[in-house]
Amino acid sequence: MKYRVLHFGEEPLRAASEPVTEITDDIRRLVDDMFETMNEAKGVGLAAPQVGVNLRLAIIDIGDDPLILINPRIIKSSGKETCDEGCLSFPGLTEKVERAKKVVAEATDIDGSLYQIEAEDLLARAIQHELDHLDGVLFIDRISKARKLQIKHELEMIKNGESLYDDDEEEEAPL
Ligand code: NI
Repeated sequence: MKYRVLHFGEEPLRAASEPVTEITDDIRRLVDDMFETMNEAKGVGLAAPQVGVNLRLAIIDIGDDPLILINPRIIKSSGKETCDEGCLSFPGLTEKVERAKKVVAEATDIDGSLYQIEAEDLLARAIQHELDHLDGVLFIDRISKARKLQIKHELEMIKNGESLYDDDEEEEAPL
C-alpha cells in the first residue's frame, strides 16, 4: 500500500518519534509500504514520520543497496560538505545544506540484527537527513535565517499543499 507523503506544515513531521520496541508484522509491512511509497515518489530516502508514523525508522536507497534503519544513531561524524538537498516533504524545493561528509551509524535491520555502516557523501547526507526527521528536524532548519526569509513564499506554497515542480523539470533525488 502506497502512503501519501506528508508535506511541510503537517504535524507528525515536527513530532519526536518513539523507538521501535519490537519488529512485528506491522513493522515489516510498514517498511514494505515505505519502499513502495519512496520508489513511486522517486526519492532516495524516507523516514516513517513522513508517512505519518512517529517511529524511529527510515529507509534509504541511493541506488546500490537498500538500507533499513531501525532505531538508528550516528556514532561518529567527520568533515563538512555543502550540497544541494531536497526532501519528499518539500516537493520541488532544493537548498544547499551543510552536513558532515562522513558518518558511522548504527541501526537495527529488519531481521533484528544490529549493524554498523560507514558512509560518505550522498549516503552520509541521506543518513543525517533521515535521522533528523526522527527528531522532528527538517532540512530547512539547517539553512540560514536570511535564506529562509528568501524562500518564504515557496515554503508557504508547500504548506498549502502545492508542489514547486514544473511539469517538464527533472526531479532531483529527494530524501
Ligand atoms: Ni526528507
